[in-house]
Amino acid sequence: MQTFHDIASLQQQLGHWRRAGERIALVPTMGNLHRGHLALVDSARHHADRVVATIFVNPLQFGPDEDFERYPRSFDEDCRQLEAAGCDLLFAPAAETLYPNGQSELTRIHVPGVSEGLCGAHRPGHFDGVATVVSLLFHITQPDVACFGEKDFQQLAVIRKLVRDQHFPIDIIGVPTVRDHDMLALSSRNAYLDSQQRARAARLPQLLKQMSERLGAGETIETVLHEGEQILREAGFTPEYLELRNALTLAPAEQASDDAVLLVAARLGQTRLIDNRRLASDS
Ligand code: PAF
Repeated sequence: MQTFHDIASLQQQLGHWRRAGERIALVPTMGNLHRGHLALVDSARHHADRVVATIFVNPLQFGPDEDFERYPRSFDEDCRQLEAAGCDLLFAPAAETLYPNGQSELTRIHVPGVSEGLCGAHRPGHFDGVATVVSLLFHITQPDVACFGEKDFQQLAVIRKLVRDQHFPIDIIGVPTVRDHDMLALSSRNAYLDSQQRARAARLPQLLKQMSERLGAGETIETVLHEGEQILREAGFTPEYLELRNALTLAPAEQASDDAVLLVAARLGQTRLIDNRRLASDS
């Protein structure tokens, strides 16, 4: 696996591959890789001849009181895992490389609609930061395909709209969430949980499953959401939101049909966890 930190060398190599007629898949990450990221690399390998991963802990997408400084970084181990997973190239720029004139005057991308509400309401500016860096990475690498995890469900919707609105000729692949033995969705932030919290965190996906089954059995959306939030609080979580939305538009779902998705964000101590469950997965 080749590793580049600068844009010119990266683009030279990408140019060689493109002129040879090879399809390029992009896997943007913030590092601290786990099996969820490796599933993205795996999917990328199936959709293209060359896999390009990026590692960049993007300061733009963290709020002033968020965990940018302590976000786990494990570059050497990440490189080892990417190489073993069959990644061809790693682009790991410094912040000065992507944002050479600093962040304050930087042109930013705002994706209206799907970026509002849910995580967008609780993390102001977060999706502008995501859309801005992803758009830059798309311009720099010009991939044919890019892979993102379905765990970040709203992020995936934001990126799909970004690609449509900006006419990027890129296929966006949503890759199913990879879960631990107890169904907890893998996330770099799980590393913040102590052993008691880690055991308790599995209540989140379990609750979504139960709620989905209750909706499937005909209970009202209002009752199931209301009781779901109570159950979360009793289990020691501080819920930020627990909602049923349309999986394409993210508008509130009026019916518990197959195109609906349960979305949750909740804190356990200082750690913010998100998860989702398509109702279609229980039909
Ligand atoms: O999902 C992530 O890890 C990040 O939000 C992304 C897409 C790499 C942008 O920084």
